[in-house]
Amino acid sequence: MKIQIINGPNLNLLGTREKNIYGDQTFNEYFDKLKLKFEKFDLHYFQSNIEGEIIQKIQDVGFDFDGIIINAAAYTHTSVGIGDAIRSIQSPVVEVHISNTYAREEFRHKSFLSAHVKGVILGFGLRSYDLAIESFS
Ligand code: DQA
Repeated sequence: MKIQIINGPNLNLLGTREKNIYGDQTFNEYFDKLKLKFEKFDLHYFQSNIEGEIIQKIQDVGFDFDGIIINAAAYTHTSVGIGDAIRSIQSPVVEVHISNTYAREEFRHKSFLSAHVKGVILGFGLRSYDLAIESFS
């Protein structure tokens, strides 16, 4: 099963950025563990700080891959374009967040993605991605 993980802006700084919220592991370290844990999945990882690149990746894999796991980070709360891209493809999409966005500032309570995804997993730290992968098994 081919799964694309897409991370949005500032998630390249995991391990360095606001460790009290996002933890002290880099995503690359974590992704190595994910690949070992979910050997039967063909996992792919893409990160970008640029909205258009995220939209392009959704379009590129969205008619071919078995699933997409997306943490659009701050774009979650602003991007009509990413929401529209998700509506336009065929692969099922799971939205994830490391933190519980509902326990944070009000502007993080709105997601432009949630209405168009299969499900949302948030608040379990990096484990949110494990749970999202499991949802495809
Ligand atoms: C985040 C939550 C967003 O509000 C924030 O902008 C992020 C990360 C999370 O994974 O908890 O960058 O998506």
